Amino acid sequence: MAVLEIKKYPEKILKKKASDVTSFDKELQTLIDNMIETMYAAPGVGLAAPQVGVSKRLAVIDISTKDYKFPLLVIVNPVISKKEGTVEFEEGCLSIPEYTAMVKRSEKLVVSALDREGRHIEIEGEGLLSIALQHEIDHLNGILLIDRISQIKREFFKKRYKKSLVTK
Ligand code: NI
Repeated sequence: MAVLEIKKYPEKILKKKASDVTSFDKELQTLIDNMIETMYAAPGVGLAAPQVGVSKRLAVIDISTKDYKFPLLVIVNPVISKKEGTVEFEEGCLSIPEYTAMVKRSEKLVVSALDREGRHIEIEGEGLLSIALQHEIDHLNGILLIDRISQIKREFFKKRYKKSLVTK
């Protein structure tokens, strides 16, 4: 296994809609293992394939904390089939280091997806799991958390981010 390089805003691959996974071959299994290792090394609660430079509909999620163990999820070609309620949460993203913003999302949802072997799975999520699922599925559609905030906040973010790139 290997820790992969995480693509950072404003790299173009992060804005691209990813394509479906069609083959569950050895190459995909290696990519999944490397994504899991990269997510834990970061550390982060989720990582989508475009964030490691692969424009495929695939993400890994682990919302576990010290006190609360949750199974590691591998979702392939996920589709949100139900949404309910609204929740607002301060989110961060491994592709936008040192930035967080309040993002409004659905409180509960159902996601249909495939697992790493290509078997159909259905995930019911609420709270942090629901937020993480929506955040990662957004990545597969080329949407970043800064696309989910107000225009004023986004302009402010862009100015500040450019400045920090210049001074680094
Ligand atoms: Ni992210």
